[in-house]
Amino acid sequence: MKVVFWLGSVATTLSLGTSGFAVSSQKYVWKNAKIGGGGGFVPGIVFNAKEKGLAYARTDIGGAYRLNSDDTWTPLLDFADHARWNYWGVDALATDPVDPNRLYLATGMYTNSWDPNYGQILVSGNRGASFNVTKLPFKVGGNMPGRGMGERLAIDPNSNNILYFGARSGNGLWKSTDYGTSWSNVASFPSAGTYVPVPGDTNDYNTDKVGIAWVTFDSTSGSSGRATPRIFVGVANAGSDNVFVSSDAGGTWSAVPGQNNTFLPHKGVLSPSEKVLYISYSNGAGPYDGTSGALYKYNIASGAWTNITPASGSDLYFGLGGLTVDLQKPGTVMVAALNSWWPDGQIFRSTDSGTTWSPLWSWGNYPEMNKYYSYSDSKAPWLGPNYVEINPGTLQIGWMMEALEIDPFDSNHWLYGTGATIYGGRDLLQWDVKHNVSISSLADGIEETAILGLVSPPSGPSLVSAVGDIGGFVHESLTEAPRSSHQNPNWPSTSDIDYAGNKPSYVVRVGTGDSSTGKQVAFSNDYGKTWAQHYGAADNASGGKVAVSADGTIILWKSNTDGVLVSQNQATFGAVSSLPSTTSAIASDKKSNGVFYAASGSNFYLSTDGGKTFTVKGTLGSSTSTFDIAVHPGVTGDVWVSTDKGLFHSPNSGTTFTAISEVSQAWGISLGAPASAGGYPAIYVAANIDGIAYYRSDDQGASWVQINDAAHGFGAASANVVAADSRVYGRVYIGTNGRGIFYGDVDGLTNPITTTSAVVSTTTVATTGPTGTVTEPTPSTTSAVANPWGQCGGLGWSGPVTCTSGFECVVGNTCKRRILVLCLV
Ligand SMILES: *[C@@H]1O[C@H](CO)[C@@H](O)[C@H](O)[C@H]1NC(C)=O
Ligand SMILES: *[C@@H]1O[C@H](CO)[C@@H](O)[C@H](O)[C@H]1NC(C)=O
Ligand SMILES: *[C@@H]1O[C@H](CO)[C@@H](O)[C@H](O)[C@H]1NC(C)=O
Ligand SMILES: *[C@@H]1O[C@H](CO)[C@@H](O)[C@H](O)[C@H]1NC(C)=O
Repeated sequence: MKVVFWLGSVATTLSLGTSGFAVSSQKYVWKNAKIGGGGGFVPGIVFNAKEKGLAYARTDIGGAYRLNSDDTWTPLLDFADHARWNYWGVDALATDPVDPNRLYLATGMYTNSWDPNYGQILVSGNRGASFNVTKLPFKVGGNMPGRGMGERLAIDPNSNNILYFGARSGNGLWKSTDYGTSWSNVASFPSAGTYVPVPGDTNDYNTDKVGIAWVTFDSTSGSSGRATPRIFVGVANAGSDNVFVSSDAGGTWSAVPGQNNTFLPHKGVLSPSEKVLYISYSNGAGPYDGTSGALYKYNIASGAWTNITPASGSDLYFGLGGLTVDLQKPGTVMVAALNSWWPDGQIFRSTDSGTTWSPLWSWGNYPEMNKYYSYSDSKAPWLGPNYVEINPGTLQIGWMMEALEIDPFDSNHWLYGTGATIYGGRDLLQWDVKHNVSISSLADGIEETAILGLVSPPSGPSLVSAVGDIGGFVHESLTEAPRSSHQNPNWPSTSDIDYAGNKPSYVVRVGTGDSSTGKQVAFSNDYGKTWAQHYGAADNASGGKVAVSADGTIILWKSNTDGVLVSQNQATFGAVSSLPSTTSAIASDKKSNGVFYAASGSNFYLSTDGGKTFTVKGTLGSSTSTFDIAVHPGVTGDVWVSTDKGLFHSPNSGTTFTAISEVSQAWGISLGAPASAGGYPAIYVAANIDGIAYYRSDDQGASWVQINDAAHGFGAASANVVAADSRVYGRVYIGTNGRGIFYGDVDGLTNPITTTSAVVSTTTVATTGPTGTVTEPTPSTTSAVANPWGQCGGLGWSGPVTCTSGFECVVGNTCKRRILVLCLV
């Protein structure tokens, strides 16, 4: 996952249960609205060494998962709530080779200022069904650079009470001898790691030390019941010793002699029967970078190092990441190119300990490629040809490939993680028989997307989403993966979405990208099935929030780049000077065309002239920041506003506000289908009432029931989107920052719609606005763009200075993967 959120306010605003009202709870059934296929970076996959079929995957912002026998995955950290949002950043994982029930996770999101919290080791004795928590005295960076190196956490295979954890930020190597309950620093370990991804970067995300990368026990050096003597540790150092060994169970350490420390060691994988340690290297910490690398094997008995890098010269344009050996067939080794951005990712396999290699694809009659695989995305069709985040129709194999594992009990079964999903198959030995394997998307159950906007229109599909990194979807079914993400235009992320109250088939979305990905406003006349660019938007104006008027003729846009803008009847967007740049929430009336609402600080604004001018209408108590405005779907002027100081209701367009006294803080809010026909809409809110949780009121806020439970925390409330279903009473959608979309139904209530059959045309292509045909200017042609990680400027450079979609030209004139920083204060 590439979306980076700044949650700097979480720690200071957190005040659990301060309002002290006892609120009853109602049993809800929560499920993911299925996107399927993961949707984000999977930095680690770990098989258990003792029990066949037991495996786990970790993600960078969406928690950890356990593999089931039917190839589906079960989430393990859904209990993480607002106070424990950083548990979803899983920087390392270890499954016990002695007692398979034991599972350990090192969690924490950022080691820089974005996450004020220290990390923790989660200890489970039941495969992740529940955890004990040991707080660490430093931060853990599950979503930091180098998160695919590893694993940083390892269990002694001869004495499973002993664990080591390699910390970031210069905090060194740590050891536990009591099954992860307590930890102490290994003072004798000689290097805490000096490598930082971008020294001097003004953004402190890239200036922290990546630290210790992996710990690998040499199981063959000891015997059961006694601490394993030989332990290898890889450290993020480039140009100084970076592979260390202890021969006395961690008492003393030294650099392994003869090592080549030019590049960073990403993985250290033991082949016990060969008595060999394989090490993959890259010239960056990953996960986006790497333009060169190496693969070495270290013969433990003789001390000899052999360079077995599977590519050389100009064919070696990537670092090496994912690395695995077949424990059933000693000498079989596989390694992944960390990032081969073009023409596709690459994986190499050797059956002779790295003497010779065969690739997953090779050039045929250029530009034809010999693909030594068949590909299936049946479990997440949007991943395939319709998935165009990086290179349209290409990068089938993947990128950011740090997790690559052959099942230790089944030579045919393999899995690998990419920047978007988990792929793998069950016929891997066919690689050696006929050099052709079956690759399938095998991330069913993993939902690790960051949801930025959701709408549930009163007709058509019950849910349309705006999603970070993968665009968003029309959810025609909540139980089946969508076939395609939003297309034409296609942006790295869609930041918000809205529908017209009187004409719900008219939907507008805004995105983040640049002029190479088209205008950053798009509209649809068929509930989001097909889209057209809004040519009234300036090039490169992007991001933010959008609200479309009741009849669909006016679009109000709080952009990230150009302030608050409005367009009427498809005209060019113009500045709304009467709204301050601090405007944090906008909304449209769902009945009266031309009526819009906005808020900033404690000021609530109203426009009755189609968003051209706003005036301060009312005051939201002592609020200093406004989060969301929810509008009654059937009554003009009936609005609810959530702020850092509570929840406010106005029946008269903000002329007067009533503060809902129980609520001390509120975030996402939405009004949906009422409890009984003709009644007041049910209100759903993420708020601090009886603690920070999710609540529903059926009586205009007079009383509330809590609808989430201890097993469903949804992470940071301040990062989430709440959308009530327009048609199903009790149903609410919660879009999370890292765990996809949940939908909740009252337990026992029968639900009229689970699969929605949208009344949408499959053939209409929306090219006109709601008020008639408009003449669209021809989009300016984009000049050549630089490839990912390619050069994009510099002295004497005459090539392209713009990067391909999703990348930006940064210091050093290199196209770097764009990192979204959303400020959610
Ligand atoms: C969790 O903590 C409890 C209480 O200290 C302890 O009895 C239990 O063994 C711990 N579980 C694990 C898996 O360590
Ligand atoms: C060490 O590795 C680098 C990068 O692969 C290579 O250029 C260099 O020749 C190697 N040094 C030795 C002594 O093999
Ligand atoms: C591998 O098998 C697939 C499926 O049968 C086929 O499409 C593909 O062409 C094969 N690859 C090569 C290089 O023959
Ligand atoms: C849009 O952004 C691209 C890439 O960042 C830049 O090259 C181009 O000049 C920008 N266009 C405008 C109109 O600002």
